[in-house]
Amino acid sequence: MSIAFLNGEFLPLEDARVPVMDRGFLFGDGVYEVIPVYAGKLFRLDHHLKRLRNSLDAIRIEKPLSNEDWKSMLNELVNRNEGADQAVYLQVTRGVAAKRDHAFPPDCKPTVFAMSSSMPPSVDIDKISGVTAVTFPDNRWKLCNIKAITLLPNVLLRQQAIDAGAAEAILIRDGYAVEGAASNLFIVKDGMLITPPNGPTLLPGVTRDLLVELAANHAIPFREADISEAELFNADEIWLTSSTREISPVTLLDETVISDGKPGPVWKHMISLYQDCKSAIRRGEAG
Ligand SMILES: Cc1ncc(COP(=O)(O)O)c(C=O)c1O
Repeated sequence: MSIAFLNGEFLPLEDARVPVMDRGFLFGDGVYEVIPVYAGKLFRLDHHLKRLRNSLDAIRIEKPLSNEDWKSMLNELVNRNEGADQAVYLQVTRGVAAKRDHAFPPDCKPTVFAMSSSMPPSVDIDKISGVTAVTFPDNRWKLCNIKAITLLPNVLLRQQAIDAGAAEAILIRDGYAVEGAASNLFIVKDGMLITPPNGPTLLPGVTRDLLVELAANHAIPFREADISEAELFNADEIWLTSSTREISPVTLLDETVISDGKPGPVWKHMISLYQDCKSAIRRGEAG
């Protein structure tokens, strides 16, 4: 049985109920996080909580819990759920209002919800063969740095990708590739790892930022730069990153074969560094 947290209470997920006047339901007025758990430990928790704070500030919701309270609630949620590896979903909405009105209601108390789901078992790196991605124009709003629950464009784009037989959509804005529908984007060209700089066109991914740290710590040539559509198609390697997808090598982009149709050497180096981080947290040596 899956246990959820709703407004101060732990309860079976199927018993969790939110009133229809919740602004998350009516307006998508809220923000969220997805945090992977390895061996019962929340991975990069401080980074997720920092991004949550930024998202809450951006949409002007007062911090509903202190950092320490988030940590103890999330750890308890993990302990109450089965499985050493999990993915925790955390959502805060502006709360329940007396009437439907776009403007912020007075005295609205945020709704805090969290649940845990199972993580797919880790795959042997040697068995990872790469995924297909397709490019689509980015039709999202201009505040993509906020991890908002208002995800209709991302939902439609991901479905368009699936309908095209691909795993992910890579989004093109003003001639530049910014990120995936639910992932960040990296390319490798002539040994140089490149990702677009953080800003309003993309989500500051926790996985992305970890890869930036790993590149710096392991002398992997790296820069943050805009990636034109032409540079994307001419890349030696393309990767998509997210907390649940980890680092996914793209081997087919639209009709173009990337990296001879196999994961490239820089990906192999980075995924082994990433696996080391996961092993460290499993041993309780890192956060
Ligand atoms: C639009 C978008 N970009 C990037 C990411 C990757 O972020 P993270 O690495 O923090 O999971 C996500 C994750 O859901 C996303 O939805």
